[in-house]
Amino acid sequence: MQSESLVRDPSLAPDGHRKIDWAAEHSPVLNRVRDEYLKDGTFEGLGVGVSLPIEAKTAYLTVVLAEAGAEVSVASPGPFFVQDDVAAALAERGVTVYASSEADPAEADRELERVLDRVADGRDAVLIDDRAGLTRLSHTTRRDLLPRIRGASEETTSGVAKFKAMEREGILEFPTLAANDARCKYLFDNRYGTGQSAITAIMQNTNLMMGGKRLVVLGYGWCGKGIARYAMGLGARVTVCEVDPVRGLEAYADGFDVLPALEACEGGEIFITATGSTDVLTTEHFERMREGAILANAGGVDVEIDVDGLREASSGSREVRRNVEEFALGDGRKVYLVGRGMVVNLTAGDGHPVEIMDLTFAIQALCAHHLARSGHSLENRVHLLPKEIDDEVARIKLDAVGMGVDTLTPEQEGFLAGWRE
Ligand SMILES: NC(=O)c1ccc[n+]([C@@H]2O[C@H](COP(=O)([O-])OP(=O)(O)OC[C@H]3O[C@@H](n4cnc5c(N)ncnc54)[C@H](O)[C@@H]3O)[C@@H](O)[C@H]2O)c1
Repeated sequence: MQSESLVRDPSLAPDGHRKIDWAAEHSPVLNRVRDEYLKDGTFEGLGVGVSLPIEAKTAYLTVVLAEAGAEVSVASPGPFFVQDDVAAALAERGVTVYASSEADPAEADRELERVLDRVADGRDAVLIDDRAGLTRLSHTTRRDLLPRIRGASEETTSGVAKFKAMEREGILEFPTLAANDARCKYLFDNRYGTGQSAITAIMQNTNLMMGGKRLVVLGYGWCGKGIARYAMGLGARVTVCEVDPVRGLEAYADGFDVLPALEACEGGEIFITATGSTDVLTTEHFERMREGAILANAGGVDVEIDVDGLREASSGSREVRRNVEEFALGDGRKVYLVGRGMVVNLTAGDGHPVEIMDLTFAIQALCAHHLARSGHSLENRVHLLPKEIDDEVARIKLDAVGMGVDTLTPEQEGFLAGWRE
């Protein structure tokens, strides 16, 4: 189908179609959600604006929403998260795509604005957001579209934090859903998805082994826990750095060393940030690192590693392998940055495993469905996806892998809810 899409190279579509087909075949949960919930007419004539990395799994989510009757437009939260072949294929599947891996930052913002302009053009719309990009633009440069937006659901921990900051300031103009905070999202996507895909991206791009390496994980939230666990499983000796003493203690009880970052720098060989915060590794840290240290960021913001500071502290840099940049520090030591200091599993990898994103996007599809049906009656604040929907997604996934759970009897429910002996 012809569309108004703007992609880098339409001739790349065949490869993109193969990738999307593979994702579709390995998404039993999203497929069941599509058949049982999404085809009830809710999406007919509705706009769905999507900001997500353009790769096969996100592409399949947008195809499913378009098949359910929505007018779907999609852009990426940044040019480094765009697979041009997938963008080209999507444009042939009834989804309007504004995405190029070669867009500069201003063009990337323009792509997000185009999404808003298209989905809310003469119709109501819901948003599926990543790091609150569409929500930010709709509250700044596209305020005229606000009355048409029924709500936005957010994919990331960092984006939910921005929604909450907007709520605190009292400026949220539509209800939002913290898709990230659904249990079927963060327990699997942030933990197992980031764990597997960040470690895989570092191993594939450096071609180095994990076994025996001294690996430092900065941040022991859901992502950090997954990274530490996968690295340990591969034989790495893991040290965790935290600012929350309870999380630090949890890491200790999980079997890891826990040290302040400056101390951990002296022994570490691989460093992975996963905090969602800024200046976690700076020149102060680089100065203490040993020759050949490898740095990567798995957090959702690209300021965790002070890449500008690293560049200034270096006498030169060069790409030594695809996605691996070598920095020569003043005293002759070299350190290596994987994936530009941006989300390494996306800029230097294929993102999370399909089965993980199947869960995440079943949640996102149901968030969009919930906002489409109930957005008008929700307050303009940050909401959680209702627990029953989260539970249903888990039940579908268990069923898909041939497993299941029990149900409480009325007597058990009464016992648990009561206080009398
Ligand atoms: N790579 C991916 O694909 C992916 C997937 C999901 C989430 N994310 C992003 O990863 C980041 C972390 O997500 P999460 O769900 O683990 O969040 P979280 O809030 O569960 O954990 C973050 C942890 O970092 C710690 N922290 C904060 N500042 C620190 C510092 N300076 N030094 C050490 N520790 C510090 C916090 O105490 C907290 O325990 C977010 O930006 C999120 O958006 C990335």
